[in-house]
Order: sequence, then structure tokens, then C-alpha cells
Amino acid sequence: MHIPADTVSLFDYERHFHTRVDPAIRAYIAGAAADGITQRENRTAFDRVQLMPRALVDMSSATARTTLLGETLDYPVLIAPTAWHRLVREEGELATARAASLTRTWMTVSAQASVALEAVAQAADAPLWFQLYMQPRREDTLTLVRRAEAAGYRALVVTVDAAVSGIRNVEQRAGFRLPEGVESVNLRGFARAEALDARGGSPVFKGLLAGAPTWADIEWLCRATALPVLLKGILNAADVPGALDAGAAGIIVSNHGGRTLDTVPATLDVLPGIAAAVNARVPVLLDGGVRRGTDVLKALALGAQAVLIGQPVLHALAVGGVAGVAHLLTLLQTELEVAMALTGVPRLDAVPRAVVREMRRET
Ligand code: FNR
Ligand code: LAC
Repeated sequence: MHIPADTVSLFDYERHFHTRVDPAIRAYIAGAAADGITQRENRTAFDRVQLMPRALVDMSSATARTTLLGETLDYPVLIAPTAWHRLVREEGELATARAASLTRTWMTVSAQASVALEAVAQAADAPLWFQLYMQPRREDTLTLVRRAEAAGYRALVVTVDAAVSGIRNVEQRAGFRLPEGVESVNLRGFARAEALDARGGSPVFKGLLAGAPTWADIEWLCRATALPVLLKGILNAADVPGALDAGAAGIIVSNHGGRTLDTVPATLDVLPGIAAAVNARVPVLLDGGVRRGTDVLKALALGAQAVLIGQPVLHALAVGGVAGVAHLLTLLQTELEVAMALTGVPRLDAVPRAVVREMRRET
């Protein structure tokens, strides 16, 4: 496996990914919903925020270590759930899990993983979370939950922003199809929403959404498991009371990397309002466009306890397998530590809001 010597940042992995991977698979991984406006906004929101350093801070006990859900986290970057790692690497999620373990990074395994969730757990010794789409039949959801519990996953992440698939024009134009031999192995035999379709009427409303979850289902799930349940895909502070009432143990501010509904806001822009509504009762995490250590520090200053990265992990997996993903994670951790050192932020459990200075957009 050859990682080019000029691969020194996450953007370099992205560049090399684009020269090495089949165009239709690239379109699936890199493509956003519709016109890609939200995907671009996720990035520009980070670029709009400036860091304000303090000079000569005592950094002798500085550390990137924090705690999350009662456990020690070596640095506050997790692997976001992404489907079908076997699209870019034969060993798929097993390779990603090994890289996560090498770097002590927590990994969220997608419900649409291309490897059995038990096998991923066997390959990992860093903590794993399991991402769940609520299935049309509760018994199927429970099957997944019990399997994740038995395999030692530490938390469940329920994705709530993708009741139906987004308008994926980029992958449609490229004619993306799952290649032979790659599938959502953990969902085999489950009822699919389309199969429950009542004849006639809108396929969106009568078909897919007839089985889509509501708050009552989240409440049911939180009662059905002892694992913490985090909700991924919250963008509106108005949803926070409902989430906490239903029993959510954490909120992940996410727009699915801009892949579901185009023109929703950048996650960084809505983070402060959501963090204020949560008011430290549960952890708040963020994903979408995190590519630099400085982005991580900005997200923490604006109210997140940790961030997740999606696309970059697949770029590195495609370019360099286990070594690529481990290297990418190390790059991000090092960048974060440099950002802490140069802004004078010795600890991440209480990053001062004043380390960021928002530029005025109207001037
Ligand atoms: C995703 N994402 C995702 N989310 C989820 O809850 N379940 C899933 O199966 C997937 N699958 C998936 C596939 C691919 C190819 C991508 C790029 C993303 C969304 C993911 O968890 C996360 O929200 C975003 O990827 C974060 O944005 P960045 O880091 O990719 O900019
Ligand atoms: C995606 C689905 C799998 O974003 O969540 O492609």
C-alpha cells in the first residue's frame, strides 16, 4: 500500500482519493444532496470563524484528553457512521476498526456496514458505537439492538435526519449501484419500508414514511436498552426538549454531511443555539466538514464536547487502508494539539468561548 509522501493533511487524502477510486463510487462517497449547498456551507462555516490566541499561557499540563459518557476519550474526534466500507477496501470496516484501535479513536459502525457488526467488534479494542436506523418493524430494530449489546458496543446512535433518502443528483448522474458482493449484511432478512407500501398514493408519504420513526419510537427504544442512545441529525434547538424527554443521552448536531436535505444550515452555525438549549444536561457532538484541528477547537469552543468525521475516513481507507486511516487520525490529533498550544488552551473540557471570534457576515 503506497501513501504518497505529499499526504500531509486530510485534504491531501481527499485529493488522492479522487485520482484512485472508480467515478461512480466517488460520486456516492463525495456527492451531496441536490446542489451541494449545505455540504459547502459546512466547510465555509468553519472558515468564517477566526481563532483568537492568548499569549504565554502555562501549557505544562496541557492535554487533549476529555471524558464522554463517563469514559476517557484520548482526543475528541470520533469516526462517524458511513455505509459500506468494502466499497473502497476489501476488508471494509475491519480495516477501519483496526486503525481506530491503533489510534485509540472511538468508531461508530453504520447500520449499513458491509461487515457483520460482531466481526467489527472482534477486530476492535477501542470503544465502538452502533448507528441504527429505526426499522419499519420494531422486532427488527430490537434484533439489531440486542446484537450490538451482546457484541459490546457502548452506545447506540439513532440517525433521525434520513427518514427518506435525499435527492442525490451527483450519484444519480454517475449511475452509482452497489457492486456485487457489497451489501448491508446486518440488515439481511429485515422488512424494507418499500415492501410495506400501501398500493397507490405517493411513494414518499405512503411508502417510506409510513414506517418512519417518531418521538414515541425513540422513547420506546430508550426504554428497551440500557445503552445510552444518542440522536444524530438534530439541527433545530426546538427539538432538544423532545429529545431529552424521550430519554436521549446525547445529541449529535449533523446534517448528514449535506447528503440528505440541501440548503439546511451548516452544523457549526446552529451548534451554539443547540448547546444553549441542552444546557450541559447531555453531551453535544457535531459532524459535517471537520477537516482541520482548528475546526475541532472551534466546534468545542462553540459548544460541542466532541466531533465526528465521515468522508475523510473513507478517503484514507481508499488511499492507504489501515495505515492510511491511522495516519489521517494522527494528523488530525496533532493539528488539534498544535491549535491548542498556539491559542493557549490547555484543556478541552472547558474551551473558552473567547477563543473564537466570529467575523461579521454583513460587512
Ligand atoms: C454517511 N453518513 C451516514 N450517516 C449515518 O447515520 N448512517 C450511514 O450509514 C451513513 N452513511 C454515509 C455514507 C457516506 C459515504 C458518507 C460520506 C456519509 C453521514 C455521516 O455519518 C456524517 O454525518 C457525515 O459524513 C459528516 O460529514 P463529513 O465529515 O463527511 O463532512
Ligand atoms: C448515506 C446513507 C447510507 O448517507 O446514510 O449514503
